[in-house]
Parts: sequence; structure tokens; C-alpha cells
Amino acid sequence: PYVVTENCIKCKYTDCVEVCPVDCFYEGENMLVIHPDECIDCGVCEPECPANAISPDTEKGLEKWLKLNADMAKTWPNISQKKPHPADAKEFDGKPGKFEAYFS
Ligand code: SF4
Ligand code: F3S
Repeated sequence: PYVVTENCIKCKYTDCVEVCPVDCFYEGENMLVIHPDECIDCGVCEPECPANAISPDTEKGLEKWLKLNADMAKTWPNISQKKPHPADAKEFDGKPGKFEAYFS
């Protein structure tokens, strides 16, 4: 599956949800995740993210994020409609340490 990674935190552009053919995105307060059992690996969401926060789980070092996507997708609500991004999204694009400071 594809996974949402750290740079989604506090950026949350939600362009990704509009293109997913199986609506497998789930929404937390500060980021989205992909349900790994529902994702059909089509890859169309990856280039849609302005923050480059989506990657295939075949990329190295994403184990932590795959687990987090799987865990959170069980409890967070589904999101399939784009919504306005946070006003300060740009400021947070690429900021280090977002997971420790803002994950929710
Ligand atoms: Fe949805 Fe395809 Fe992205 Fe998986 S890879 S989350 S199925 S758009
Ligand atoms: Fe996050 Fe990118 Fe989607 S910032 S909400 S993964 S478009």
C-alpha cells in the first residue's frame, strides 16, 4: 500500500482524498492516513500531494509510518471530500520534528 508520512502533519492539504478510487483515507486532527488493507496501490494520490507526504511502502524506512497508518485508520473517521487546508500549512511544509510536536 501507499502510506502518508510525516510531512502531512499540519499541512493536511486533502488533495489526496479527491483522487482515491477506493476512498481509503482517514482523518486525524493534524494529518491523514491510508488504510493499508483498503489501498489498491494505484499510486494516483502520490503526485497530488503538494507536501510530497505520500509514498509507497516499498520505500526504505517507512515501517513506522506503515504501522501508524494501519493503527490510526482503525479509529479515525473516513474522509473523501477535500476541505480547506490550515491557513499556516505552508509554514509547516518541510518543518522537521512535526511528529514529536504535533502528531494527532
Ligand atoms: Fe487510494 Fe490509490 Fe492512493 Fe491507495 S494508492 S490511497 S488506492 S489513491
Ligand atoms: Fe496530507 Fe498531502 Fe493529503 S498533506 S492530506 S497527504 S494531500
